Amino acid sequence: MIEGNYEIFQQIGYVASAILFIFGLKMLGKEETAVRGNFVSAIGMLLAVVVTFVNVIEPILVLSAILIGSAIGSLFALRVKMTSIPEMVALFNGFGGLSSFFLAWSEFTSYKAISPLLLITYLTVFIGGITFSGSVIAYFKLSEIIKFNGAILSKLSRYFLIVFIITFLLALTQIILQILNITLIDFDLIQQIFLGLLIVSILSGFCFVIPIGGGDMPVVISLLNSLSGIAAALAGILLTNTALIVAGCLVGASGLILTLIMAKSMNRTLFNIFFVGYSEGASSASDIEGEIKPINAEDCYLILEAASTVHIVPGYGMAVAQAQHVVKELGDLLEQNGAEVSYGIHPVAGRMPGHMNVLLAEANVPYDNLLEPKDINPKMESIDIVLVIGANDVVNPSATEQPGSPIYGMPIIEVHKAKTVIILKRSMSSGFAGVQNPLFFKENSRMLFGDAKESISKLVSEFKE
Ligand code: TAP
Repeated sequence: MIEGNYEIFQQIGYVASAILFIFGLKMLGKEETAVRGNFVSAIGMLLAVVVTFVNVIEPILVLSAILIGSAIGSLFALRVKMTSIPEMVALFNGFGGLSSFFLAWSEFTSYKAISPLLLITYLTVFIGGITFSGSVIAYFKLSEIIKFNGAILSKLSRYFLIVFIITFLLALTQIILQILNITLIDFDLIQQIFLGLLIVSILSGFCFVIPIGGGDMPVVISLLNSLSGIAAALAGILLTNTALIVAGCLVGASGLILTLIMAKSMNRTLFNIFFVGYSEGASSASDIEGEIKPINAEDCYLILEAASTVHIVPGYGMAVAQAQHVVKELGDLLEQNGAEVSYGIHPVAGRMPGHMNVLLAEANVPYDNLLEPKDINPKMESIDIVLVIGANDVVNPSATEQPGSPIYGMPIIEVHKAKTVIILKRSMSSGFAGVQNPLFFKENSRMLFGDAKESISKLVSEFKE
């Protein structure tokens, strides 16, 4: 009787936590409610953990795991720099996948004979394993600790990925035939196949992410996020845990929607991204015609002071320099000076989806002033000055002008069409995609070298004087 009551209490708890997740997710969609949305979802997760915890068989063991995990997670989250959040998110996805992988593995050890649940177990292990190892590679790529750019390595990885996927599908078919009693192989053999599958799934993740480069990493990261949710939902089925199924489905579905949006905004199909890749040619600075024309802050101020339309395009460098507040201050001063100011937001600028929106919202830039490439590009020729602040790949004209370029086909903000472009960066180094940028050599471009925050602060001081 008590157990029956407890079951009802637990299911009510799960439904309540699912409602909190859904409301939290909805609130995350708007800047004004995003912080509260995060909090509401966290409360939902706490509730789910508490109602699950009440009837666990080994409470001390589980509590120790929760405490150790929470301590490590909190320590990392407190110490992480703002610019390293994308890497941390990649690791979170990876550990989500790893926990589903271990969960399914441990469930497998309890099977003594063939069961339909084996199919779900296989799927959980495969998706969880890919998510883990793929996210580890994504972490290394995002933190730029390692760059795998070799064409041979990329081709080999794609080849092995296809081999691994076929191996997995064969293993899955074998289980289906076994369940239908069409073939009968020994359960010992099934156990050995399963052990092989553990290795195949981890190797698949490496092969999946190693060849991805150029502008495709954002799509891969959102797909890994989605996969971590799908693996969690499958693990939820194995454990018959409603909260895990709901939370996993929400992450899986929202990650998949984001993946499709990202792929569309990059003008790419998922097949192209994962199995074809961008072209492998890369231009070097010596191939590009034109010369670099540096400018100092004083001259830059004079040009800005006379401008009636100014468009600001932020990129990863603005995040590194933490320049968003001075950028807003400069924008306000330009407006007071009579200029019309707008901000161009490329969907993959920075290192995580919505990166620039978050930074500019933090600095209270009005949302209405943020324009997408499709809105600003048609007006670009009428813009007096474009300030490119730590952006590089997202304004690289070789994406539209050089068919052999590794980023050819990627939509960009076409700043090179403006009357004058001032690019703020520290050196001539390339962006994330590792491609040289012909924009810097164009007739209408000027380079304001230095840390973005320092350069903008100098411009702000000039305006104030
Ligand atoms: P990037 O092309 O990576 O260029 C950033 C530029 O900022 C660099 O050229 C760098 O040049 C400059 N920079 C760095 N620190 C700076 C500082 N303190 N002050 C001034 N400039 C600084 O950035 P982007 O244009 O935003 O493009 C994003 C790239 O990342 C795309 O290729 C995209 O596909 C990829 N990516 C995006 C995501 C998401 S989801 N957004 C995820 C993974 C990868 P210097 O070193 O010369 O200063």
